[in-house]
Formats: sequence, structure tokens, C-alpha cells
Amino acid sequence: MTMFTAFLLLFSLVATASAATAAFNLTTLPFDDGFSHLFGNDNLVRSGDGRGARLTLNRYSGSGFISSDLYHHGFFSASIRLPSDYTAGVVVAFYTSNGDVFEKTHDELDFEFLGNIRGRDWRIQTNVYGNGSTSRGREERYVLPFDPTAEAHQYSILWTADRIMFYIDDVPIREVVRSGAMGGDYPSKPMSVYATIWDGSTWATANGKYKVNYKYAPFAADLSDFVLRGCRVDPIQLVDSARRCADAQDELRASHIAVMTPRKRDAMRRFRKRYMTYSFCYDTKRYPVPFPDCDIVPSEQTRFLDSGNSKFRHDLRRSRRQSRKPTPDGEISN
Ligand SMILES: *[C@@H]1O[C@H](CO)[C@@H](O)[C@H](O)[C@H]1NC(C)=O
Ligand SMILES: *[C@@H]1O[C@H](CO)[C@@H](O)[C@H](O)[C@H]1NC(C)=O
Repeated sequence: MTMFTAFLLLFSLVATASAATAAFNLTTLPFDDGFSHLFGNDNLVRSGDGRGARLTLNRYSGSGFISSDLYHHGFFSASIRLPSDYTAGVVVAFYTSNGDVFEKTHDELDFEFLGNIRGRDWRIQTNVYGNGSTSRGREERYVLPFDPTAEAHQYSILWTADRIMFYIDDVPIREVVRSGAMGGDYPSKPMSVYATIWDGSTWATANGKYKVNYKYAPFAADLSDFVLRGCRVDPIQLVDSARRCADAQDELRASHIAVMTPRKRDAMRRFRKRYMTYSFCYDTKRYPVPFPDCDIVPSEQTRFLDSGNSKFRHDLRRSRRQSRKPTPDGEISN
């Protein structure tokens, strides 16, 4: 590697790292101010500065943490770096749920990261459940325009009474606008925020074809730059929380993180056009009648099979590698 390419590499690493963490210019929380350990004993390790945590999966256990409070609406964000190398069957999740409090009528908003065999990209899945709508999964899947194992990126979930947005860094990748027809399927009750790593061998990679291979363990995900912004409620006050949280919700709705500007909408469309690989809205095999929250875009629909999967292969990491130009002295810069 020449001095010049080394300099360029260093410069681009520094530039992307600071962009990822500064996506929203919001105050981040030390781990213990917002979260507590949920499971996996020694497989959760706080970072030295107390602002992050490493979650590990080994052959004995996964691990996870949970927010110390429930929130009635909010903005929940973490910077996450995913485990590298062979990760088939490994699932990392950053999500909100109230499944512990409302067993039959729970709400949930998910970012799920699905590991892959060596050399193939991680996939991301988002999902929305309301009032126990587990028979009506609203999955979307995407590949990423970057390698999520090389550096941390910021993943965020916004949830107000009328809009849900999933963000990667400062780009909204999915928006769910509440409509009356969605009824209880729109999440409406206070939720906790979770992060977990676990063995999803039965489904995560190629529908379970590739299982977790513990020869490559431990699998570790690093999380930091936590934002928990919303109206905190404790389980005893759940019933009353909508009224108590009205002011906080107005403030959240008015903030830049909840407003869909034309610029953000364009960025969202571009992302979805290039990177979305599955949508429940186009899965007419599973759902012959699309859900009321589906915004069917005919030009987009033509890119999908009736299984909801994209017609095109998305092997981005390979194409990223191939597109790298050899350096003048004949090496492949990396
Ligand atoms: C970030 O937030 C701080 C404190 O609220 C503010 O002073 C600063 O101008 C903000 N920076 C940007 C780039 O918005
Ligand atoms: C949620 O589900 C319960 C049980 O099925 C039902 O009684 C209730 O009306 C539903 N709530 C909403 C907001 O749809």
C-alpha cells in the first residue's frame, strides 16, 4: 500500500465513523443510565467508558439487555457493529416490545440483523406488530450499502401516535403512517427497548439451511451511542400513560427526527429502490389482499416476484469489492 492510499483509507475511515455517530446530534446515554442486563450472564460486557456494551453469542448462550423503563412513544437509537466472518444463523436484534406485560396483545417494532455465510452480506429485516397481530407479519428485508461488520452505524426507531420511521444513520428506510384501517395493528401501548444476540439457526439464513457454526464463536456485536428519548412510564401507570405523555409526544412530533421532509423522502425512496429485497406488501402469495398501510408503487412492484422477493440478485459486497480499482503499484486497495 502506498503512503497516499494509506492516507486516503485513514481519512475515509475517520469521516464515516463520525458521520455514523453524529446522525441526529442527540445526547447519548451511558449504558447503566438507560438499560439493565436481561440474559446471558457473562456474555454481556460493558465497554470501559460505560457508554457501550458488547453482546456475545457462544455455544452456551446468547445475551441481551432491556431498557430500565417503558416508553409511550419515543425515539430509540443505537450505534451497532455486527460480528464478522462466518455468521450464518446468528441474529442480532434492536427492538421495542411489551410482550412481557401484554402476552396476548403485545406491540413490537423490530430491527433484526440476519447473519450470513462467509463472504455474503448481512440482511436486515424490519417488522411492525400491534395488539398481538403476530399472524400478520409486516416484514421488509434489505441489504446494506456498506459492510456493517467493518464499522458501527446508527440504527433508530421513531414511534409516535401517527407515524413510525426506521432509520439507518440519517436515512429513513421505512415509514408507516397510521391509518384508521390499521386498527389495533398499529402499536399503541408503552414498550421497552431491547438489544439481543441469539441463535436463529432454524430460520435466519436461507430459511434455516445454514445453521450457527460454533467453530466460529464467539459472535460479538458492539452497541453504543444510545438514545432513549420519549415519555417514560412505569408498569403501574400504564393505563394512564397516553394522557400523561401528551406533551412529550407533541414535542417529539415537532422535532426534526419525526418530520418527513421532501429531502428525507427522496433519500428513503432511493434506499428502498436499491436495497429492499423483500416486502410483505408485494407478497401476494402470503397476503392476496395487501394491508391498508401498504403504499403500492407500481414501478416498484414490477421489481418484485409474487413471493414478495426482489427479482434481482443483491450481492453487494462482491460488487463493492469488484468495483475497487487497483492501485498504481498493482495492489488491490482495501
Ligand atoms: C447540536 O446540538 C447542540 C446542542 O443542542 C447545538 O448547539 C449544535 O448547534 C448542534 N449542531 C448541529 C450540527 O446541529
Ligand atoms: C386488542 O385486542 C383485544 C383482544 O383481542 C381486543 O379486545 C381489543 O379491542 C384490541 N384493541 C384494539 C385497539 O384494537
